[in-house]
Amino acid sequence: MYLELTDVENEKLSSYRESIKKLMSAKRYQHSLAVEEQAYKLAQIHGGDVARSVTAALLHDVARDMEPEKQLALIEKHKISFAESEKKERALWHAGAGAVYVQECLGIGDEEIIGAILHHTSGCANMNLTEKIVFVADKVSKDRNFEAVAKERKKAESSLEDVIFKYVKNMVSSLVARNRHVSQKTLETYNHYREKITKQKISIAS
Ligand SMILES: [Fe+2]
Ligand SMILES: [Fe+2]
Repeated sequence: MYLELTDVENEKLSSYRESIKKLMSAKRYQHSLAVEEQAYKLAQIHGGDVARSVTAALLHDVARDMEPEKQLALIEKHKISFAESEKKERALWHAGAGAVYVQECLGIGDEEIIGAILHHTSGCANMNLTEKIVFVADKVSKDRNFEAVAKERKKAESSLEDVIFKYVKNMVSSLVARNRHVSQKTLETYNHYREKITKQKISIAS
């Protein structure tokens, strides 16, 4: 129950929680709730749209436990911006399928919520604030336990873009190290935030 939201918005969130619980493992459901909680904190800190941020965060992995073939079928059956290059990066399928699922099955039409779900894995160049919040909340939520997560969680309070860049850089390195395809979209995210962070560092130093 969020005081910032109307009763209708809070009721919708409760019904989404009930819906997604049936579609995923208990662990994935706990992750979804943790990302929702993290997105709420980040939206408050960075002046984001609380309703959109928590809704997209709660629903971001709605298609994660679907069969890969079903994820791809959803993407291909419906009009969604999903390039051939993205289809070769399998980890991105659940993001595309999730963006379709929330429209088709939950009746969500809000472009910002749909975009935040669609871009939560690869990011994209020039993300809006809701997209940035959901992307980062997913990487630093309280259920994450990689070594530097506490530091990254703290950094997210001052700069969402620093965390985005670091994560995408690691993602590109990891795909290359495993000889995997890196989608155009993932590379665009990397290049966009690399340039932004570099420019920021130069202007701070000068
Ligand atoms: Fe995901
Ligand atoms: Fe996630």
